[in-house]
Amino acid sequence: MIYLNGQYMPIEEAKIPVLDRGFIFGDGVYEVIPVYSRLAFRLDEHLKRLQHSLDGIRLANPHSVDEWTAIICGVIAKNEGEDQSLYLHITRGAAKRDHAFPNPPVPPTVFVMSNPLSPPPASLLTTGISAITAEDNRWLRCDIKAISLLPNVLLRQMAIDAGCAETLLIRDHAFLTEGAASNIFVVKQGVLLAPPKDHLMLPGITYDVMLEIARANDIPFEVRKISVAEVFDADELLLTSSTREVLAITKLDGKPVGTASPGTMFQRMHALYQEFKHNVMRAK
Ligand code: PDD
Repeated sequence: MIYLNGQYMPIEEAKIPVLDRGFIFGDGVYEVIPVYSRLAFRLDEHLKRLQHSLDGIRLANPHSVDEWTAIICGVIAKNEGEDQSLYLHITRGAAKRDHAFPNPPVPPTVFVMSNPLSPPPASLLTTGISAITAEDNRWLRCDIKAISLLPNVLLRQMAIDAGCAETLLIRDHAFLTEGAASNIFVVKQGVLLAPPKDHLMLPGITYDVMLEIARANDIPFEVRKISVAEVFDADELLLTSSTREVLAITKLDGKPVGTASPGTMFQRMHALYQEFKHNVMRAK
């Protein structure tokens, strides 16, 4: 069951006009919210990031926090599974095709669906994943979670075509931003390095969790620009996202990362993340 513009319905019955600006221009924003034990994780933070995205594209938020909470709880309740991945999507609505915003504004399209959420398979935790690097050719507002994801789609497909799971993005041939659909951390001599949250990367909710866990457990970390040389010289590389939790990248551009197997920082952060999931994310 999905939610579309005020109504819950089976996904097969959901329809939008072909002139929807999401379809025509990719003119909209989205969120992906993990749900554990039927509780939306960090809903306030996700709704804040959604507001930031809406402000970034100058689209009025159609709902209050209470209204969003009711819609989201409705979708969770109407779907099976204790753990779910909620996808929330807002576009500037349907109007005659014109790049300029519809004037007067038209009602936005609001869509929420649920997908099953399962942790990465155990085999990936023991082997890690392979990744490639590519130049970050996206726009300069990567902090907006925009539905126009064509660059991310093409960048991710480069990894798939190379038999890998993710593409690490390098801006200006100089520094690491993030993954095509994830945030990336570098580990060097026991220190967790994180790129700064600026206009060149999506401020991941899992990224915040990682730094909170590091702080709470006296794991040294630094938030700063990470050079491409540091990426290739890393002892470990970690990937995070709401759907993939924490994974170790053990091969980059065909070469081993560190010892070529998930390292001690990964083991520690993964164990702490699981503990956090059990004690905090699932806590009633
Ligand atoms: N993507 N950076 C990008 C470009 C992303 O697309 C994502 C997540 C992240 C990690 O953010 P978070 O920790 O809040 O999931 C970073 C989601 C999962 C997606 O598009 O499906």
